[in-house]
Amino acid sequence: MKNIIERLKGIFPEAAHPRIFLVGGAVRDILLGQESTDIDLAASLTAEEFAAFGFHLVEGRSTAAIWHRHVAGFGTIEVTPLPDVAGLADDLRRRDFTVNAMAMTLDGSIIDPLDAGGDLAQKRLAACSRLAFIEDPLRIFRAFRFAADGWQMAPECEELLRQHDWVRELASIPVERFSREMLKALENREPERFFQLMLETDAGRGYLPELFRMPHIPAGPLDHHPEGDLFTHSSQVLQRVSVISLDPLTRFCAFFHDIGKLDTSPDLYPRHHGHEQAGFVTAQDLCRRLRLPAHYGKALAWVSKLHGRLCKWDELRDATKLRTAGQAIKAGIADILPLVSAADKPGGTKPGTWREALRIAGMSSADLGIDPQVLERMPPDKRVDHILQKRVELFRATRTASI
Ligand code: CTP
Repeated sequence: MKNIIERLKGIFPEAAHPRIFLVGGAVRDILLGQESTDIDLAASLTAEEFAAFGFHLVEGRSTAAIWHRHVAGFGTIEVTPLPDVAGLADDLRRRDFTVNAMAMTLDGSIIDPLDAGGDLAQKRLAACSRLAFIEDPLRIFRAFRFAADGWQMAPECEELLRQHDWVRELASIPVERFSREMLKALENREPERFFQLMLETDAGRGYLPELFRMPHIPAGPLDHHPEGDLFTHSSQVLQRVSVISLDPLTRFCAFFHDIGKLDTSPDLYPRHHGHEQAGFVTAQDLCRRLRLPAHYGKALAWVSKLHGRLCKWDELRDATKLRTAGQAIKAGIADILPLVSAADKPGGTKPGTWREALRIAGMSSADLGIDPQVLERMPPDKRVDHILQKRVELFRATRTASI
């Protein structure tokens, strides 16, 4: 804490210190003894002072104007301008949850107009006002994201959420803001809570209609899927993968790995023949609609298509193993795919020869000892088969050598 405050003092001249306050998540995290990387301030400074201290004004489309400055070691510092020092309490009361509505002066004392001490100690989310969600419905998903990090919603807060149908208000919130909260939730300890709360409160159907269909679709035949429905199965896979990976992309792929099952015709239930191929397209549609980074769409499409192969790895032909490994390398999921496949089954393990298959699938024709002239003399459609054959030979040879 001392460190952050001391460094902040160094950025502003001493005469301005009484008009500058650390606010938001950084104060909450400092009081919880956690690291905070995101520095938000509120300050009663004139436009001339902001400019003189190296800040520039960014006018938001839907949010109030904020002053920004990049500071090495801190990243971007964002400052909400206050009309005067007395305006701080109003600014804090307009925020989302009481635990995020505290400020710290640059001499280290706490300003806590909503008496958030008890909420902080209990890790409880209490809305700052009855209008907190109406004023910015995105806060619904912030609440779910905090819940995925072990916070409990206060009963009144939950009541505020449940008593209203949010469809109309959420329609004006850009999907990117929803997706940002979802991805942050995926980094938390219990990411499945985020999706569970969406279902329980019926919030966000417009962003993620796929999620709302999952509880009504069987995961598969009951002897393979005693857990029953697709939502329960996907949540369990997400839980299991979260034990072995902190990576949000891996966790995202785990939760949606069976997205192709949404395309199965109900008369074929509980089976889902062809869901892996169906998921290849549905996954890309989902990621495009959520405006996720391009590599998310690619990774989920290929996890969806290939995860079943890793689940029955030992039954595959060597050529299929090597082709699968090559596709996983190209899709950027060489590390993700075995984790998702292992998590797909209770007690599942990663396939033993996966690393070896990856190593060989990643070798060039020169590495494989193929004479380029021999390759050139072949018709193009035979070249791929020839290279694959060489990979298979090497794969078998290394396996025999290791027995
Ligand atoms: N805030 C709010 N309503 C929002 C977003 C943010 O009231 N929809 C307020 C909260 O006081 C929050 C602060 O703005 O603490 C800063 O927002 P942000 O940096 O997005 O969140 P943090 O709480 O700092 O949490 P994190 O850093 O984990 O995102």
